[in-house]
Amino acid sequence: MIARLGLFDSGIGGFTVLNKVVERHGDVHCLYLGDTARVPYGEKQASEIRLIAKEIAHWFLCEDVSAILVACNTTNSLAFDVVQKVANIPIIGLINAAAELITESKVGVLATSATASSNAYKNQIEAFRPGTIVFEQACPAFVPLIEAGQMCSNSINRFAVEYLTPLLDAGVEVVVLGCSHYPLLQPFLQEIIPKHIRLVDPAIGLAQKLDRLLGTPKTTLQSPFSISNTRFCVTSNPIDFAAKAAHLLGVCPEVDLVSLRPKACFF
Ligand code: DGL
Repeated sequence: MIARLGLFDSGIGGFTVLNKVVERHGDVHCLYLGDTARVPYGEKQASEIRLIAKEIAHWFLCEDVSAILVACNTTNSLAFDVVQKVANIPIIGLINAAAELITESKVGVLATSATASSNAYKNQIEAFRPGTIVFEQACPAFVPLIEAGQMCSNSINRFAVEYLTPLLDAGVEVVVLGCSHYPLLQPFLQEIIPKHIRLVDPAIGLAQKLDRLLGTPKTTLQSPFSISNTRFCVTSNPIDFAAKAAHLLGVCPEVDLVSLRPKACFF
């Protein structure tokens, strides 16, 4: 019996994962952590991402969650094992969930620099479907622009063309949104990508994987988006985060400022 799911990202990207989880699993209770003091993760060194992941996993254990959803691909790529080692509870990630959604033989992945250079998507997809060719494209400009609320800007459009062109030139048949912030750009990306190329949101696979813990839902698609069972925490700027949540989720939640420093339960 899963009482409460812990879900984390560097910032607002995890909303896209929470959205898919709530769409599929309705009234599930979640604890959302946005590590806003350290966003973006995608340009950090692996060693720092691993330290952050360890700190967050400990924090979730102190908060008594019964499973952790790693709603950040960068952490999935470089520190999934760290979270697993710290927390002896179910840990569910995006990358292996995405790999199971792929049926095409030429795959493009848009991701942060850290995720792209880790080759985590390439390795997972090729392990799941040998013979698949995977092209990974780093998109360093996206997360700062999304966090700054510039989702419909000319800059986003310019960078989207720049990042997608090598994948389209390579003849990919599907593009994976390999950073949880990127589904927020889906409408703009869809305008650039030819109609026959599929866009994949790994969060759909993650929400399906949750069936193993929560059971297969009888009905799906909760609309409008319901966050009444979610507590939101951040490591800086709760007011700013609440405003972004109001814009993206349509409801202005209470947001708690938390410290991730180890608590007495471990020391
Ligand atoms: N949304 C996260 C990811 O999926 C982190 C992005 C960032 O902070 O750079 O990779």
